[in-house]
Amino acid sequence: MSVIQFESHKTSTQAWVAPQLAVIVPSYNERDNVALLYEKVTTALGGIPFEFIVVDDNSPDGTVSVVRELAQQHANVRAIRRIGRRGLSSAVIEGISSTSAPYFAVIDADLQHDEAILPTMLEMAMAGDDIVVGTRYGGEGSVGAGLSKAREAGSRFATLLSGILTGQGLSDPMSGFFLMRRDVFDQIAPSLSDEGFKILLDIIVSADRFHALRGKRLRIGEVPYTFRPRHAGESKMSPIVVVQFLGLIVSKLTRGLLPTSFLLFGLVGGFGVIVHMGTLWLAHERLSLDFVWAQTLATLVAMTFNFVLNNELTYANRKLRGWRYFTGLLTFYAVCSIGALANVSVASWIYAFDGQFYIAGLLGVLMSVVFNYSVTKVFTWR
Ligand code: GDD
Ligand code: MN
Repeated sequence: MSVIQFESHKTSTQAWVAPQLAVIVPSYNERDNVALLYEKVTTALGGIPFEFIVVDDNSPDGTVSVVRELAQQHANVRAIRRIGRRGLSSAVIEGISSTSAPYFAVIDADLQHDEAILPTMLEMAMAGDDIVVGTRYGGEGSVGAGLSKAREAGSRFATLLSGILTGQGLSDPMSGFFLMRRDVFDQIAPSLSDEGFKILLDIIVSADRFHALRGKRLRIGEVPYTFRPRHAGESKMSPIVVVQFLGLIVSKLTRGLLPTSFLLFGLVGGFGVIVHMGTLWLAHERLSLDFVWAQTLATLVAMTFNFVLNNELTYANRKLRGWRYFTGLLTFYAVCSIGALANVSVASWIYAFDGQFYIAGLLGVLMSVVFNYSVTKVFTWR
């Protein structure tokens, strides 16, 4: 006889039913939204057995404790708490990977997506669509009051760009709301980028290539809905997310040959050159420092600038903080100094038998970007 007595809640004593659908909810500071979303999803899905998986990046507002409380009441609720990492795409990938349900849907926590279309989406997937997208722009869909004018314009422009990339006439490839078969996802998961916001776009591009290799076409369904204003809390969209998105587009155009982080690293390096020249001019011309000192100062300023920006942008998903920020900065200085040496030696070597300064100079710079990127990826943002 068992000595431990459990207080039994209603749902946890019900017979276990295999979930047909996993509802994946990425969350960051959504404590006042998750329970309401769960309620609405439950109502919308009626009798369809589902599990509700919240993937939270250790939100300071304590979203996870709210989800855990909910899970004490309902057997189909689960919380994944990720520590030391940030990122919508990687959270979604992790949530999907944690379920064994044959279908999954991804939906925002803030109630902007209309959960009422979930059953239709599931039906379409069960009838053979590989991916079903909730669209704000097709058919009866609309952005309603959910987006500002500026964001709507940005979103439409991004839609245009990604149309070029996917070659699919999709009305809303930027949607964060979609449903698909898990086995299709499982096949392409290894080729997905875990950076940034645009997981659906990435999935479509990868799945499309995967299917094309097998002589098949991807079947994408669309269900219109009206995008609602955010319920509680604030959006995490930022200029950084936009730049990351552009990086993803270029990265996908090179078929992943150039990772998004490399492109962003190079972009930051480009700004670093401007900062360097600005500082040099200021120190040498205006403050009449000796050239050697001015150049040294400019180098330090530019390296620091690059470190800060790379930490915010390129490695936003594993930002260094506290003590590690400091040690990271030191390793970054060290690596970039070696990179500069490599730059000069390679450039001089090429110059020696080529004699054209710009080719030698450019190859030297390229050399140090590749070197700095690969080494700091391992030592600084490991
Ligand atoms: N785990 C985790 N980590 N979740 C995150 C992170 C993160 O770093 N950043 C955002 N989220 C969660 C939010 O908590 C929310 O549930 C969802 O991802 C969307 O974030 P919002 O901040 O609300 O983004 P948005 O409304 O500006 O844009 C969303 O809607 C658009 C239209 O559907 C995104 O889903 C876009 O991808 C989408 O295009
Ligand atoms: Mn939102």
